[in-house]
Amino acid sequence: RPRIRVHHLAQAKERGERFAMLTAYDQYTAQIFDEAGIEALLVGDSAANNVFGHETSLPVTVEELLPLVRAVARSARHSLVVADLPFGSYEVSPEQAVATGVRFLKEGLAHAVKMEGGAHYAPTVRAMVEAGIPVMAHIGFTPQSEHVLGGYRVQGRGDDAQRLIDDARALEAAGAFCVLMEMVPAETAAAVDAAVSVPTIGIGAGNATTGQVLVWQDAMGLRGGEGVRVAKFVKRYADLRSTLLEAARQYGQDVRTGTFPASEHSF
Ligand code: KIV
Ligand code: NA
Repeated sequence: RPRIRVHHLAQAKERGERFAMLTAYDQYTAQIFDEAGIEALLVGDSAANNVFGHETSLPVTVEELLPLVRAVARSARHSLVVADLPFGSYEVSPEQAVATGVRFLKEGLAHAVKMEGGAHYAPTVRAMVEAGIPVMAHIGFTPQSEHVLGGYRVQGRGDDAQRLIDDARALEAAGAFCVLMEMVPAETAAAVDAAVSVPTIGIGAGNATTGQVLVWQDAMGLRGGEGVRVAKFVKRYADLRSTLLEAARQYGQDVRTGTFPASEHSF
């Protein structure tokens, strides 16, 4: 299998095919998802709440995300590796965004970056693409703006659908290679997909987008336990939390009872 590049994702849309993206933040998940044929891996700023223990994605920094991007890029042989631009690392100016994007490709070894925001960011996207940085746009619900948007709320309902269509068209015209939509009614997402020729990716955006993405700890059931709410748009493909919990309990018990290590584990 060859390395997936941005034009392969474009081909998927042209041919009426679909592709899958998962988040990844480390070596083994990157290797496993790559081996499974997942076309794109996103080193999301969701590392804030899935790796670093924060409540939201806002606190994660470029310095924190860079080593994770590098680990994933070094471990994935076929998947396209996309680095998320953290809150505060691109909003100030196109110059700031280009500088941050360069770091993710040069130090992080990513193949592309993802950036939250609508038509307002078209000049930023253009500057990045001209600098050699492929940009995946992220519209609809954009978690970095949760304090402006008033929390986790579906975007693009009713008359607001046109705003998302306008955003997607402006970002495509600026050179974005893909448009990701989060928490958008299926009908709106279908209209956005039809309005642009670049591929689209959905998360909580129905079934009409070219690709889908999920946070791996949600999809594989690592995140869970008491009081943890999983979003409606997540499908559970495994129950890793239970598997690990049971294994860790067993290990602890074996150590306490002297069952481990046995003679076959000893020199
Ligand atoms: O950071 C992330 O994981 C994301 C996806 C949910 C799209 O942006
Ligand atoms: Na993100």
